[in-house]
Amino acid sequence: MAGRAAVFGAAGQLGVELVRDLKARGYEVVAWHRGQVDITDRAAVESALASFDADVVFNAAAYNQVDVAEKEPQAAFLVNALAVRNLALACRQIDSQLVHFSTDYVFDGTAQHPYVEEHPTHPLGAYAVSKVGGELYAQAYLDRALIVRTSGVFGPGGVATARGNFVELMLRLAQSSNPIRVVEDHVASPTFAPALAARTIDLFEKQQSGVFHIGGGTPISWFEFARLIFDAAGLRPSLHSTNEREYRTPARRPRYSALSNAKMERAGLQPMPSLKEALAQYFARRGGNPHPIPRPPIP
Ligand SMILES: NC(=O)c1ccc[n+]([C@@H]2O[C@H](COP(=O)([O-])OP(=O)(O)OC[C@H]3O[C@@H](n4cnc5c(N)ncnc54)[C@H](OP(=O)(O)O)[C@@H]3O)[C@@H](O)[C@H]2O)c1
Repeated sequence: MAGRAAVFGAAGQLGVELVRDLKARGYEVVAWHRGQVDITDRAAVESALASFDADVVFNAAAYNQVDVAEKEPQAAFLVNALAVRNLALACRQIDSQLVHFSTDYVFDGTAQHPYVEEHPTHPLGAYAVSKVGGELYAQAYLDRALIVRTSGVFGPGGVATARGNFVELMLRLAQSSNPIRVVEDHVASPTFAPALAARTIDLFEKQQSGVFHIGGGTPISWFEFARLIFDAAGLRPSLHSTNEREYRTPARRPRYSALSNAKMERAGLQPMPSLKEALAQYFARRGGNPHPIPRPPIP
């Protein structure tokens, strides 16, 4: 079902995968990174979309600096909420479906099992509030927006972005001999960007709209995820668990934010790959040397 697809935020981890996958499926794709179209500029968004009669518009652009957002909530709100209004209004004008991405951080983390789409949102900080705002704007102006909430995104595109991802952070920390401390009392569902892009396009092709969760499928603490990363990379750094009381951050985060993929699977989509499989693919695609400083195995 190829058609015409537009992608904003095309240089991010998810943006590059959406463009790659859409092209592989035969779509005619026009994609803009931030230097080409800043989505906070309503006129720029409108003129970009007016130049291309898109069937579907993917918004992979986001302000993702969760801690910095506590110092500059306006900046987060401009990109994650008001700019989504720009996109929604422009999609309405050209009768195009908007596919927008949101986050597991819309929840407060008090659940004990993976969050389903119907669970009430309760954001805990400026970034999370701005992402809820984006969902509301998409739903306010469009009847058929598709909103995909995801969690802890990691994709090979993160090697090239300024912000990177958790896998790259762990690899960087492993380059020094200092102990690495990672929280074990926060659980999420880390999500492989290429699989997220593929499932999202599948949802669009199945003419779905509304809110869907696409998480990695495995609820796991960040500490255990770090362990899986180092296993997959063949590294043995000095890894220690910590907790949110010892490791304070400017932003509050949900302690538990794993997402249930049940609705996505009921819609006929393939389950997400296991984290082990996703990490193997990550390292195969990432290239380069994941073993910056070989260290002897821990006895
Ligand atoms: N990364 C995660 O762990 C995570 C977790 C949950 C949900 N999500 C959601 O998943 C989606 C994809 O995230 P990702 O991991 O691909 O993020 P990413 O790698 O940080 O990419 C975001 C992209 O958006 C661009 N951008 C920022 N402001 C923009 C603007 N005003 N106009 C146009 N582009 C702009 C960034 O450009 P610059 O680099 O130039 O700023 C970057 O290329 C987002 O909606 C995010 O909120 C991500």
